[in-house]
Amino acid sequence: MTQIFGVDVGGSGIKGAPVDLARGTLTTERVRIPTPQPATPDAVFDTIEEVLGQAEWEGPVGVCVPAVVVDGVAWTAANIDPSWIGTDAATELSKRCGSTVTVINDADAAGVAEMRYGAGQGIRGVVIVLTLGTGVGSAMFVDGTLVPNTELGHIHYKRRIAERSVAARLVEDEDMDLERWAKRLDGYLQMIHRGFFPSRIILGGGISKRFDVWAEWLDVPCDVVAAELRNQAGIVGAALNLAVTEEL
Ligand code: BGC
Repeated sequence: MTQIFGVDVGGSGIKGAPVDLARGTLTTERVRIPTPQPATPDAVFDTIEEVLGQAEWEGPVGVCVPAVVVDGVAWTAANIDPSWIGTDAATELSKRCGSTVTVINDADAAGVAEMRYGAGQGIRGVVIVLTLGTGVGSAMFVDGTLVPNTELGHIHYKRRIAERSVAARLVEDEDMDLERWAKRLDGYLQMIHRGFFPSRIILGGGISKRFDVWAEWLDVPCDVVAAELRNQAGIVGAALNLAVTEEL
């Protein structure tokens, strides 16, 4: 059984666990440590080392972060400390951990996990995975291949950055009415549909647990389903990304 440790760097917690890549499941309970504030690269790297220490893990580590990542280097920092921009997180973490570390955008990680083990299995054409949380992350696939760093949460919708209008945070932290939010989300999904004509849109993030309640307000003319891996998708996808990148 190939096992790789996956780490998901989120706004409130840094979570990690070894992943069984044959099944896409965690092999032990995940370790969770609150995200340091400010979440500067060094503070986050220290915390990742702490997560690995608590899990007693030595070996390859796949990490995902809420930033555009190209060749291990962060290019944006919408919901983390701005000092991430330009940081070569993969090189720095590989040095600290003494083993291979890969870094990928968090929504891309959730997406690759859904495509391999969840709601995207076997779906050809364009598939779009959106993570609805504090921000809105996106992952796009063409016949199963990831087009990385699509950042559809940052395109403009109704004259604002889309994630300001449709992030789940509006319902979860700011008490927006669920129907109002879902109808807004529908407008945004319709715009995405007009741009990419996806075969399927997969919606993730904590709010997707209640997908059955709010799906009735969606009218977008394509297949829209809830993500299946729920809050493990980032960890599983981060580990899978390492395996794919390193051809393990
Ligand atoms: C970031 C994305 C990230 C998403 C979800 C957005 O604000 O720009 O890179 O995937 O939040 O965390």
